[in-house]
Amino acid sequence: MNDTHQHIFIEGTDPKKVLILLHGTGGNEHDLINVGKHIDSTASLLGVRGNVMEGGMPRYFRRLAEGVFDEEDLFFRAEQLYLFLKDALLHYAPKSELVTAIGYSNGANIAATLLMKHKKIMDRSILFHAMVPYRNQPVHELNYAQIFIGAGVNDPIIPKNETQELINVLRAKGATVEDNWYNNGHQLTIEEVQQAHNWYNSF
Ligand code: MLT
Repeated sequence: MNDTHQHIFIEGTDPKKVLILLHGTGGNEHDLINVGKHIDSTASLLGVRGNVMEGGMPRYFRRLAEGVFDEEDLFFRAEQLYLFLKDALLHYAPKSELVTAIGYSNGANIAATLLMKHKKIMDRSILFHAMVPYRNQPVHELNYAQIFIGAGVNDPIIPKNETQELINVLRAKGATVEDNWYNNGHQLTIEEVQQAHNWYNSF
């Protein structure tokens, strides 16, 4: 199969459910395994490592400065990740019916790009500390999309108005978005993960 991305697949007890795990800058495919298990202990887990390096730190796309993205690279990498995920889901989880992306920071930003720019690949998305990935290109219809946003009112890396603008863009395209705000800076806390778990299990 397509092997553009280093990854790990852990088979769950329920073949219908898959969680795609997308780490933050400097992370890897293992980072969100425990978060994934907490969200749904029965789902299969697909952890994927970003294949761009920034000073030895893996990411999903290049940036010119903190919060300033190299859009050409963003679109190229999002397409590459989209093709990888399609292939990996067919290969590892052919019986999947409910695919959920869980992304943190840079991983949430590439997940937002997949939602906005690509055909449906995930039914639900949990975006922890995400910002607007691009502004100058069309955004897909998102009537199908269920999205949980976790954000920091005092996040020094992702300003509050960035996440709010992303929420507005997603809602304007028809997505159902639940937003939750915390006072813990850029950190992903257990409280946030617990609320994402509650949201995931509320359908
Ligand atoms: C990004 O580059 O995607 C954001 O600035 C968040 C991060 O530092 O990963």
